[in-house]
Amino acid sequence: MAHVESNTTPTVPSPAESTPDSGLDLRNIQGDILSGMPKKTETFYFFQITDAPTFRQHLRAFVPLVKTVAQALKDRDDIDKHKKKDEGHGNKPHVIPIVGVNVSFSHFGFVKLGIDDSKLIDPAFLIGQRQDAQGLGDKGTGDGESFVPDWDDAFKQDIHGVFIVSGDSHPTVDKKIQDIEKLFKIGTNAASYKKIVSIRGDVRPGDQSAHEHFGYLDGVSNPAIIGFDKNPPPGPKPVQAGVILLGQEGDQNKDGREPWMIDGSFLAFRHLLQNVPEFDEFVNKNRLQLPGLTEKEGADLFGARLVGRWKSGAPVDLTPFLDDPDLATDPLRNNNFHFSAERDFQKLCPFAAHVRKTNPRADLEELGFSIDRNRILRRGIQFGPEVTRAERQQKKTLHRRGLLFACYQSSIASGFQFIQKSWANNPDFPFGEQTPETPGVDPIIGQLRGQTDRGLMSGTNPNTPATTVSLNDIWVIPRGGEYFFSPSVKALRETIAA
Ligand code: HEM
Repeated sequence: MAHVESNTTPTVPSPAESTPDSGLDLRNIQGDILSGMPKKTETFYFFQITDAPTFRQHLRAFVPLVKTVAQALKDRDDIDKHKKKDEGHGNKPHVIPIVGVNVSFSHFGFVKLGIDDSKLIDPAFLIGQRQDAQGLGDKGTGDGESFVPDWDDAFKQDIHGVFIVSGDSHPTVDKKIQDIEKLFKIGTNAASYKKIVSIRGDVRPGDQSAHEHFGYLDGVSNPAIIGFDKNPPPGPKPVQAGVILLGQEGDQNKDGREPWMIDGSFLAFRHLLQNVPEFDEFVNKNRLQLPGLTEKEGADLFGARLVGRWKSGAPVDLTPFLDDPDLATDPLRNNNFHFSAERDFQKLCPFAAHVRKTNPRADLEELGFSIDRNRILRRGIQFGPEVTRAERQQKKTLHRRGLLFACYQSSIASGFQFIQKSWANNPDFPFGEQTPETPGVDPIIGQLRGQTDRGLMSGTNPNTPATTVSLNDIWVIPRGGEYFFSPSVKALRETIAA
């Protein structure tokens, strides 16, 4: 599952394919991490702890609300059974009420609680995302320690933690948030945290339900976890659980972890705006004019080459000239590509295409590099309204919309931060010096130290890969974020709430 976790997405391996006999304690791991909590809507609720001893007390009462992987799998099973029952009766499947709660803490949250988190080691986590923003390429003022990112005010404050509440509908989620606020005595003198901001994400309506706001199918490629995902579909090779979970085999710092860190995972959150009408206009202006293609087909092909997949989800590496909706929804084929080991000179997929930048597959593996440690599990959701007629006419964004990006990993420095800084933002990656063509930055998320003009991208025209387009605009704009640690249930109970 990538950014959208809807319980209707056809490409997500079903929970029945995940096995509980993995050796992992699925009742100890928070549900959003491995299985993803089923969701139509999700609220990220950021808070600052005001009274640490009272907060710990309140947290004790809160822990039983936390949804584990085992429970999230059960939810998915229930959804499947319901769907089958409805379809069996000839009815359109309806959504069943489901809600899930998870919680994560920033480094500043652990400091406030007096918990020594130095053995979490991760340098990105320990400085926090606000301090990391300049390195990520976000716009802002000042330099180094005094850099202030151009973010929403909420994210310029110290954020200590986040509740993630997901479910089938706004009323179910809102009710659960009220329950949480009651436990922490919010609105009374005994409150133990201050709410900073809550941001609601929603799966898009109708046939766009599994698509992000630019229109591309999301939730296709996530790493399969050895021992957890049974019968993973063909594609990138499965990774060890420790790529995502601390203290498990494959965690680079496995032996240095303290017991309370085991089975936890780092969460990188980014509040990303998407300028959809402006992106559409760019795609339309640069549509490919190839023999036999209509204007619309030329625009669709150009857009597909920016992402590396067609809007349907079909990868351009497998179907470079024409969309193939059957391939797109076939989990046995839609992730089974590796980019050409012979460095295809971008005939199939541009080097800078978003999916090639963020998971270069054989580009590095065939040179003998393992990219296991750079894999992340994406669990985000869309926010904001659909594009309005006025926006379409004016070709201008008038309403905030985009992606609440969230991903899990056992190292932010090797995961999110590395992907953003060393791959997406690096115009020379991959093969910058080894081919006549410089790839350019990732056209979707690449940033050059806050500049709007992001230089040239090659490879958008499959017939003349050296031809470049100018990325002199930017359509994904970071407005905030933070790095968190999502502890195990045992750690919540015995260490953090103790
Ligand atoms: C608004 C911003 C973004 C949009 C619109 C977007 C869109 C997409 C789409 C359409 C896909 C292909 C479908 C899929 O495999 O799920 C994808 C894949 C992916 N994205 Fe993003 N994404 C965004 C931000 C990010 C960020 C910030 C990162 C990490 C730094 C990231 C990392 C990935 C990865 C790792 C994949 C899977 C690549 C693969 O294994 O093939 N994305 N994204």
